[in-house]
Amino acid sequence: MPPTVSTILHAQTFRRLLVVGSGDSALSAQLASEKALKPEWEVISIDFSSEVTDRMKIRFPELAFLTMDARALSFEDASFGAIVDKGLSDCIGSVTERRKYFQELRRVAVDGGRLLVLSQRHLQTEQDILDQTDEDGSDLGPSWLCKREEVYGALFVENDPTRPPFPQPGTDNTIPYFLLVCTTNEDTAEQSMT
Ligand SMILES: C[S@@+](CC[C@H](N)C(=O)[O-])C[C@H]1O[C@@H](n2cnc3c(N)ncnc32)[C@H](O)[C@@H]1O
Repeated sequence: MPPTVSTILHAQTFRRLLVVGSGDSALSAQLASEKALKPEWEVISIDFSSEVTDRMKIRFPELAFLTMDARALSFEDASFGAIVDKGLSDCIGSVTERRKYFQELRRVAVDGGRLLVLSQRHLQTEQDILDQTDEDGSDLGPSWLCKREEVYGALFVENDPTRPPFPQPGTDNTIPYFLLVCTTNEDTAEQSMT
């Protein structure tokens, strides 16, 4: 993820961060490190593969990795100040399912909470479809207001269906991805999006 991520998260006052679809990535540990976040941040990561979370608990025993489906989270409403999705939304096949998923993230986010989504798919936001007749509606649904940036990363390839896709060596910064920086739409008047 680009360096702007820690800047965005620093702006939050509710310092509980959810990383969804952690896979085998070191992102949660990077975000939890003092370089990215202040020490008082609590970082919780989930993945629906128990193989993944078991491995990650051994690799990063100081962090919380829970086995959970991001489409039906067992957290209470308004539990997180920020949520990071790197690659999970690309695994959800239909617009309707993606909207349900992003509405579930909205449920567990505080008002004014931030959502960062890094995806290969050009996700449609409510703003994107405002002037169009789109029967499917947007991917994120009505409760998020987002800004989009194009960023470059590695090519991820799935070598084994039981394991998350892995970055291919030598492909760093060659593949275009989309970064959405979103906030809950109720609070955009008060919150800066940059
Ligand atoms: C493309 S991988 C990305 C992994 C990691 N974030 C990274 O950047 O390398 C997607 C991950 O999301 C997990 N995942 C997919 N659908 C999920 C769901 N509905 N709930 C929780 N985890 C899910 C997969 O098990 C996988 O580990």
